[in-house]
Amino acid sequence: MVPVGILASGRGSNLDAVLDAVDNRYLTKCEVKIVISNRPNSPALDIAKKHHVQTIALDDKGVPKKSWDYDQKTIAALRSHDVAPKDGLIVLAGYLRILSEQFVDLYPRRIINVHPALLPSFPGLDAQKQALDYGVKVTGCTVHLVDREVDHGPIILQTPVAVRDDDTVQTLSSRILREEHRILPEAIRLLTEDQLKFEGRRVLFKT
Ligand code: GRF
Repeated sequence: MVPVGILASGRGSNLDAVLDAVDNRYLTKCEVKIVISNRPNSPALDIAKKHHVQTIALDDKGVPKKSWDYDQKTIAALRSHDVAPKDGLIVLAGYLRILSEQFVDLYPRRIINVHPALLPSFPGLDAQKQALDYGVKVTGCTVHLVDREVDHGPIILQTPVAVRDDDTVQTLSSRILREEHRILPEAIRLLTEDQLKFEGRRVLFKT
């Protein structure tokens, strides 16, 4: 079983999708050991509790968005719940902090993120608004490995979502979110079932 730690800052709908996938036994090769939030009031913590998963809040009020000092607390919490660099998996599910290089280097190919655009287009915040403002006809979502650059690591899965003429940020975001809820558990399944291999930036199916 792969020990999984999930980091979330906000609403927690992706977290809910992953924990549903565990409960429904779509995910059978992993165990979610801990959900950590940098915001003590994050609804994600309530969602974790609903699924009987342990939670830790590490308030980052006043802490810079990227901080090795702060990350060491997160790492200690992960390690104390068996999410270790040798065999653990860390899932960023709406985690609004930037991981320090030291954190990323400690868990190579063991941290994934879900982003609401087809990377490398529209990295960073407000990706759905960026896509609408740019005028693209197709956007979507990406699950990728986390490396030292924001929204940049090797791509595991992507799904396109068509932009409609009458879309608002809200309507577009909600159609993208439905796809996020599908591909994030799928990516976790592929990784924890050891179905993938890595060739440079390319993530391929083992044959
Ligand atoms: C999602 O759109 C995710 O792609 C982005 O932040 C949002 C988090 O939503 N990184 P939720 O907290 O999972 O509902």
